[in-house]
Amino acid sequence: MSAPKLFSPGPIMVKENVRQALTHYDICHRGAEFEDLFARATAKINKLFKADDSYSSMIISGSGTSSNETVLSSVFNKGEKVMLIRNGVFGERLLEIIQKYEIPLVDCEFQWGEYPDVEIIDKAMAAHKDIKVVAMVCHETSTGMLNPVKEVGQICKKYGKWFFVDSVSAAAGELIDVVDFNITFATSVGGKCLGAYPGSAYVCGKKEALATLTPEMGRNVYLNLAKHYAYAEQKNQTPNTPNVNLFWALDVALDNALADGGIEARVARYRKCAGILRQGMKDMGLKLLLDDESRMSSTVTSVFLPEGKDLKKFLKDMEVAGYVVYSGKGKYEEMGMFQVANMGEIYPEDCEEFLNVLKNILK
Ligand SMILES: Cc1ncc(COP(=O)(O)O)c(C=O)c1O
Repeated sequence: MSAPKLFSPGPIMVKENVRQALTHYDICHRGAEFEDLFARATAKINKLFKADDSYSSMIISGSGTSSNETVLSSVFNKGEKVMLIRNGVFGERLLEIIQKYEIPLVDCEFQWGEYPDVEIIDKAMAAHKDIKVVAMVCHETSTGMLNPVKEVGQICKKYGKWFFVDSVSAAAGELIDVVDFNITFATSVGGKCLGAYPGSAYVCGKKEALATLTPEMGRNVYLNLAKHYAYAEQKNQTPNTPNVNLFWALDVALDNALADGGIEARVARYRKCAGILRQGMKDMGLKLLLDDESRMSSTVTSVFLPEGKDLKKFLKDMEVAGYVVYSGKGKYEEMGMFQVANMGEIYPEDCEEFLNVLKNILK
């Protein structure tokens, strides 16, 4: 069997030097070599988010959810409130975490695929002065919508709220500036736009906020942000045994992302690829879920199959042809929607090839 071409929003195809990094000799996580690696990688995560010295980053061995759960389970004293802005499946995943930890909630819900209205958000924040944290997803992967994170960050600044942004499918794929966007905590994972593997999640947080956290505020043992911060700051280590081998790959992927033209160049490549895919699919007569390019992410396109085509069969046919694309989630699946992503090692010529295969299958 040959390697499938992953046009899915994670896991993604990694660059060869990232794969090779996995073969590094084994080291212990309580030694100087690991500490150097940890310090290097977390400094680069700060760069990815354009953070200055007032931010610190931590790496958590787990999927993207683990980084989100680390923040949400660690930053509230009993009774403190969160306001969640949501407009899709991954906003609902944040809701699930919030409900699991019984954090008092102000729910600012928009329809799936609806662009969050910043006036409504401003009014909600004004009406609920006792909110501690505002949470939202940056790139709502289930639709491909890029949410107004910068604008919401400014509203958080106006009302003096902490701002938590799930950047799982956005970091290294969109331009995120935690200082300029007034973000208190941003999360992500290696196996998406960064071009590393799943299982290497990370959190970038404002030190001023991190310094107020105590291990007792954390509502579980493993995903305890105060503990992760203490280990990171004091020792360049993690509280528990991390997936050491993935750290090598994460470190190389960070180098790749920050090299030559930096993150701007990567985002430009992703935008170009998405543009080729979108135009090509529109030329085939396919309808996209979102119609405003400026509100679409650089890496995910949600598109409907022509009427009468069977989604399951289509996905299978694509797989047999060597390509993995995703089925839409929830009601979108019933509507015959699929998602094409261009994260990781995908270049314009790969997108042209993809379009040829898609055209043949849809014939
Ligand atoms: C925006 C967003 N948040 C959270 C997650 C959950 O990440 P994971 O499946 O790695 O736990 C995803 C996964 O695609 C995502 O796109």
